[in-house]
Amino acid sequence: MFVWLVPFATAAPPKPVHAQMQEHLAAAEAARDAVIAGDLATAQKKMAWIADNEPKLSGGAVAQFDTLQERARQGAESTTLMGAARGVAEVAGRCGACHAAMNTGPLFGAVAIPEGSDPKTHMQRHQWAADRLWEGLAAPDRGNWTAGALMLLEEPMHRPGDPGVDPGVAAVALRVHQFGSDTLNALTVAERVQLYGDFLATCAACHQATGGGPKSP
Ligand code: HEC
Ligand code: HEC
Repeated sequence: MFVWLVPFATAAPPKPVHAQMQEHLAAAEAARDAVIAGDLATAQKKMAWIADNEPKLSGGAVAQFDTLQERARQGAESTTLMGAARGVAEVAGRCGACHAAMNTGPLFGAVAIPEGSDPKTHMQRHQWAADRLWEGLAAPDRGNWTAGALMLLEEPMHRPGDPGVDPGVAAVALRVHQFGSDTLNALTVAERVQLYGDFLATCAACHQATGGGPKSP
C-alpha cells in the first residue's frame, strides 16, 4: 500500500530486475576484461557467479536464463583462455537473445574514442572496440557492433616483417585488425558469437606472449 513501509517488512523484497541486471552486467564485463588481460582464474570466477545467480524473472524469461547459465558454466569450467573467451561470447549472445525476445534491455551510451598514435592509446582503442562489440551482442545493438568492427579497420601497430618485432607478436597484431572485416561481414548472432570469442582470445594471447596488457578486474 505505502511503499515506504516495505523496508519494515520481515522478508526482504526481491531486488528489482534492473538492479539484478546491473550485477550480471558487472560480472559479465569483468569476465570479458579478465580474458583480455589473460587472467583465466578471474574469468572462471566471474562466469561461475553468473552460472550460480539466477535473476528473479517471470514466465518464459526463466528458460532463456537457463541456457545462459549453461553457457556460463561451460566458460567457468574451461581450462583454457580460448574456452573462457568462448564462454564470455556465448553469455553475451544469450543476454542479447533475451533482451531481443522481451523487447527490453540496456541502452549503452556513446563513449569517446581514445585519440593518439602511441601504443597505449592504440591499445585503448582495442579495448573500445572490444567493449562496443560486446555491447553489440549483449544489448543487442547493431550500431555498437558496427562501431566496434569499424574501429578495428585502423592500421595495425605491427605487421609481420617489421624490423625488431617478434614475428609471432606481429602476426597476432595483424590478426586483431583482420577481425574488423570479419566482424563487419558477420550477420548472424551465431557467427558474431564465434568471432567474438576468437577475437578475445587473440587479445589474451598477445598479452600473455608479451607480458603486457591491462590490469585484470
Ligand atoms: C531471461 C531474460 C534476460 C536475460 C538472459 C538477461 N536479461 Fe538483462 N534484462 C532483462 C529484462 C526483462 C530487463 C528489463 C529490466 C527492467 O528494467 O526492469 C533487462 C535489463 C537489463 C539491463 C538494464 C538494467 C537497468 O538498469 O535498467 C542491463 C544492464 C542488463 N539487462 C544486462 C544483462 C546482461 C549483462 C545479461 C547477460 C549476462 C542479461 N542482462 C541477461 C532480461 C534478461
Ligand atoms: C601485438 C600484441 C598485442 C595485441 C594483439 C593486443 N595487445 Fe593490448 N597490450 C599489449 C602490450 C604490449 C601492452 C602494454 C603496453 C603499454 O603499457 O604501453 C598492452 C596493453 C593493453 C591495455 C592497457 C592500456 C593502458 O591504458 O595502459 C589494454 C586496455 C589492452 N592492451 C587491450 C587490448 C585488447 C582489448 C586487445 C584485443 C582486441 C589487445 N589489447 C590486443 C599487446 C597487445
